[in-house]
Amino acid sequence: MLYKGQWDRAGLDYQALKNQWHVVARADEVSAERPKAVTLLGEELVLWRDGAGQIHAWKDYCGHRGAKLSLGCVKKGEIECPYHGWRFDAGGQCTRVPAHPDQATPSSARLIFRHHAAERYGLIWVSLDAPVRPLPVFPEWEDASFRKVFAGPYRYRGNALRSVENFLDASHFPFVHANLNGNPDAPEPLKDYQVFKDDRGLRTSEISVFQPYGDHRGIPVDARYTYSVFNPTTAYFVKKTGETERFCTFLNATPVDEAECVIWLIVAINFGAELTEEKILYRQDMVFEQDRLIVESQRPARLPLDLQQEMHVRSDRLGIEYRRWIRELGQIAAEGKTTQPEIETALS
Ligand code: FES
Ligand code: CO
Repeated sequence: MLYKGQWDRAGLDYQALKNQWHVVARADEVSAERPKAVTLLGEELVLWRDGAGQIHAWKDYCGHRGAKLSLGCVKKGEIECPYHGWRFDAGGQCTRVPAHPDQATPSSARLIFRHHAAERYGLIWVSLDAPVRPLPVFPEWEDASFRKVFAGPYRYRGNALRSVENFLDASHFPFVHANLNGNPDAPEPLKDYQVFKDDRGLRTSEISVFQPYGDHRGIPVDARYTYSVFNPTTAYFVKKTGETERFCTFLNATPVDEAECVIWLIVAINFGAELTEEKILYRQDMVFEQDRLIVESQRPARLPLDLQQEMHVRSDRLGIEYRRWIRELGQIAAEGKTTQPEIETALS
């Protein structure tokens, strides 16, 4: 069922996602003065920076009368609620109640719905529960021989896991990206490939894809794709052409709720100095728009993790392993203890 603003928490997909890092914003969207509201897995969150520039992700909620902290501001490294001006420090402790300036704020006036937040690759990452996997690896980020281009964000009225599976699926190119990445009347059969799994996630052997209509430069290429999946919502491919040309994309799909996601993309490229950023973005925007129509059409919206559902062929191997892996992560998380903190905000 499609419904907005929520995610069925009993589902193994939710279980697999609650303790993983997710991109929720670009780092430059959260300034020193202004908090930002985001939604992750149906939870409304506020992002803000303390006096040291450290990022915080809390439930977007003031314990006094329930107003959204994201409508407030940051003063002296503390977040101030827009309703009655209470201030909270980075530890969630209330430091100031303007209606009673002479009364000390008791230690029980503390917000404890705080999540895990980090900043990397120019992006802000949040994990609702303690993250069980490290932040994803983007090897080309520090490599100066690769230009980096941010694409998107692309908003899909579709499920995040469906959108990542779409990104991992090379057999749709001749159809969804017809006359761009393949010919629908003469699709090249996908050669067999392998999927490996270890504690870093999933990765494939090279997958050969002939692109008769050319790459970003318009040159027909015999491309070799290698995919990696670092966590259920972060995936990456290296597309090799020629001896040394590498076109990499690092993709993150934010699971806003069951039926909505936001896709953040960083392209890293070590050739084509003549390609303008506009030219690269033009093609990325077109490809993701074509994918959007498909992902939004998929039913059920949520990715089925039971392999008895939907039909599978050999070329779907990566998608099959992806579903198995998420199911496994979900089962492990569901067996562990979940810690939902209680609210503690009373002011005497
Ligand atoms: Fe936040 Fe009153 S609701 S200060
Ligand atoms: Co596509």
